[in-house]
Amino acid sequence: MLLTEKIQEVREQVKQWKKEGFTVGFVPTMGYLHEGHGSLMQEAKKQCDKVVVSIFVNPMQFGVNEDLDSYPRDLEADKKLCSELGVDLIFHPDVQEMYAEGFCSFVDMNGLTKELCGKSRPIHFRGVCTVVNKLFNIVMPDKAFFGQKDAQQLAVIQRMVKDLNMDLEIIGCPIIREEDGLAKSSRNTYLNPKERKAALILSQAIFKGEELVKAGERDADKVVSFMKEILRSEPMAEIDYVEAVSMDTIEKIELLQGTVLVAMAVKIGKTRLIDNFIITV
Ligand code: PAF
Repeated sequence: MLLTEKIQEVREQVKQWKKEGFTVGFVPTMGYLHEGHGSLMQEAKKQCDKVVVSIFVNPMQFGVNEDLDSYPRDLEADKKLCSELGVDLIFHPDVQEMYAEGFCSFVDMNGLTKELCGKSRPIHFRGVCTVVNKLFNIVMPDKAFFGQKDAQQLAVIQRMVKDLNMDLEIIGCPIIREEDGLAKSSRNTYLNPKERKAALILSQAIFKGEELVKAGERDADKVVSFMKEILRSEPMAEIDYVEAVSMDTIEKIELLQGTVLVAMAVKIGKTRLIDNFIITV
């Protein structure tokens, strides 16, 4: 497995692979890798000949009061997991390599970013679109793999690739959960034992909400209110949002029809966690 901090080295390696006829799968990450990332790497390995993983905590997607400085990092553990899963190349640039002096070009989106996380994180998706665009230009993958836990991010990236005629396929992969239901996230590490227990309320509300839709409920308000009630039963949970939106447009809907995303962001102590279910009705 190769590890490089240099854009030029990634380019040269990928060009060589392509010359040899190999396909390239790409998993962009911010590191502190867990089984959720592992499942993306495994899927990339299944679908492509070579797998590239990027590890870069992207300052541009964090707001001023967010957790950029405390975001967990452990390159040694990340290298171990990547190597065990047969990753071919890790790209681990520093901020200077990605945003050199004078950097002033951005990729932004008008739709899809107003609801859900876009409301409380207004600059987040501009940072995500910009860095993902740069990473795609550097790695030039045939396919890139994203988790459905960040469902709005997945929809945004799919839209960007379509709108800007980018020549690659985006593959969405299912949420990976702990045995007790909590969606895997690098941010789970912030939770103390009491908060970790309280955080289970998110997946409980997700599972029960999904059951309600499967049982035939089509009124978005009823589903959302039902889920909020479950969340409110946990005193440590502070709801940021629970919303039902169309998966394509990330616009609010009243009636559940087509492919629907029911998503939530909830603070447990100081930690903001997200979870969701996607259902076609
Ligand atoms: O999902 C993430 O970890 C990040 O938003 C991404 C896609 C790596 C961009 O920094």
